[in-house]
Amino acid sequence: MGNPPDANHGLSPGLLDLIRADCPSERNVLDVGCGQGRLVLAIAPDARWVIGLDRDEDAIAQAALVAKERGIVNVEFRVADAETSDYRRLGRPIQMVAAHLCMSDAIIERAADGLSAGDPLVFAAFHIDQWKETAKVSRFAYSEDRLRQILGRTGFSIEHLQVECHVRQFASEAEAMQTLAHLRPRWESDGRWGSYLAYLSAGGRDLTQSHVVVKARRR
Ligand SMILES: C[S@@+](CC[C@H](N)C(=O)[O-])C[C@H]1O[C@@H](n2cnc3c(N)ncnc32)[C@H](O)[C@@H]1O
Repeated sequence: MGNPPDANHGLSPGLLDLIRADCPSERNVLDVGCGQGRLVLAIAPDARWVIGLDRDEDAIAQAALVAKERGIVNVEFRVADAETSDYRRLGRPIQMVAAHLCMSDAIIERAADGLSAGDPLVFAAFHIDQWKETAKVSRFAYSEDRLRQILGRTGFSIEHLQVECHVRQFASEAEAMQTLAHLRPRWESDGRWGSYLAYLSAGGRDLTQSHVVVKARRR
């Protein structure tokens, strides 16, 4: 069991280190599924240029606002679909693709097409054990084997593949429900809330957060 993912401004521990270890100051970095720009803003001081891309217009507007307020000038944000965009047509050559909790086979394929030999793809994705107590595996979650297959098939060599797992333990059913109240609307709509309540009623007190952190290099 490692550090909780929250220990690093909500970004997976290890991801920033992997990015910083690969000369981002010499690279234009693309952050796919950037949301409100957490990762973009965290790596901007170390990077030559960062493009944050997300299909959510409101999130992109918020990210751009925060960057402006903080006076960060080497970033830009785009509203686009990361699964269908051509990463070679973003106005600057992309020399690293990064992502935090937005990953799919289609994004890996786009990254393979968009990067040149030697360039890295660095990301944290949901692992299949994420929230396993809710008895529902996210369609965006990966196992280690499935990642090895898709990365190998698309022309990447894996340099780092590690699961970061943190199991949160609650003292009581009431504490779990109170702590997780912010997730309730989402979990009710995707069916998780009912199955987690059943788990709590049966005496379960855990909630697993599990991410897989990867660095792969284009062959
Ligand atoms: C779990 S959030 C992570 C956001 C951000 N990376 C972070 O860590 O704060 C996933 C994000 O991926 C975006 N997303 C999902 N599928 C996408 C796609 N096909 N193209 C662009 N963005 C996408 C969502 O809009 C959302 O902002």
